[in-house]
Amino acid sequence: MILVAGGTGRLGRRLVADLADAGEAVRTFSRGISQPIPEEAHDGVERVRGDLASGTDCERAVDGVRKVVFAASGFGLARGGDPRSVDRDGALRLTAAAAQAGVEHIVMMSMVGAAPDAPLEFLRMKHAAEEAVKTSGVAWTVIRLGASLEQQLDVLGGALASKGIVPVFGSGRADVTFTSTADAAGIVRRALADPALRNRSIEWGSETHTFNGLAAALVARAGRGHVRRIPIAALRAMGAVARPFSPFMARMAEAALWMDSGGAAFDVGPTRAEFPDLPITGLAEVLRAMDPQTAG
Ligand SMILES: NC(=O)c1ccc[n+]([C@@H]2O[C@H](COP(=O)([O-])OP(=O)(O)OC[C@H]3O[C@@H](n4cnc5c(N)ncnc54)[C@H](OP(=O)(O)O)[C@@H]3O)[C@@H](O)[C@H]2O)c1
Repeated sequence: MILVAGGTGRLGRRLVADLADAGEAVRTFSRGISQPIPEEAHDGVERVRGDLASGTDCERAVDGVRKVVFAASGFGLARGGDPRSVDRDGALRLTAAAAQAGVEHIVMMSMVGAAPDAPLEFLRMKHAAEEAVKTSGVAWTVIRLGASLEQQLDVLGGALASKGIVPVFGSGRADVTFTSTADAAGIVRRALADPALRNRSIEWGSETHTFNGLAAALVARAGRGHVRRIPIAALRAMGAVARPFSPFMARMAEAALWMDSGGAAFDVGPTRAEFPDLPITGLAEVLRAMDPQTAG
């Protein structure tokens, strides 16, 4: 049995479907708050409703499980969680429960740039989660992704569809290395299947683009709309002003500033060369698959 914590999220949904299609026994673990939990699914997937904040729920989730994938996150939650409570504390709680239950392997989803002194709280919390699996006594794999390509396209494409504008934060000229959901799911499946990927970290990206490039691609695809630039000064002000009443807005502004500073770019070459058989699903393919209604 493979447990996917956050199995109803963007990556989780894709991973769970791929694993189930491949004949694996899969269980998901989530609250049903930010994402619905299908009530009557006939896909053979077992769905546990529970909260990473609860030790009892974590114990229930790992019962009878051989492998765990931690794909939960509080980064995108406007309420009911944040990187501290989910990406760090939830990861630590589930890791401890997994070690106690004799789980064989934990795959921890992290992000390129995770470090104890990283500029974003999210990256500092991811570092703590990485350390927890490495010292858990359970075989581990840390997969450090780039920014989600689909998530960014949904944000930009959603604004294009509803308002006719694509917001670009800052200059939009910095390189950002994105990871598509299909590619993230692909490397997780490889890590689950191949013992050679145990007890190591892997940085995994798909393609590097600028936000100006993403915006231009969305406008070209829609055949309408234009770019609206949000200046860096406005982003800084938004981060500072929002912090006391909307930590979510502050997080988004800080992440946008970080990406516009070039911090989210990395070289995908070395790890891609290690796994030449894993396909790259890039911008062109993701755009083709996107719902035209939500992408301009
Ligand atoms: N998106 C990115 O750009 C990015 C970049 C690098 C790394 N990552 C990492 O990759 C993984 C997948 O990301 P994603 O974007 O696919 O995530 P996502 O779509 O935001 O999904 C998050 C999942 O976590 C669940 N969750 C949140 N709080 C929970 C709690 N307290 N207890 C149980 N489940 C909880 C959510 O369901 P409920 O809220 O309904 O419980 C949902 O299923 C995450 O670990 C993320 O940190 C993401």
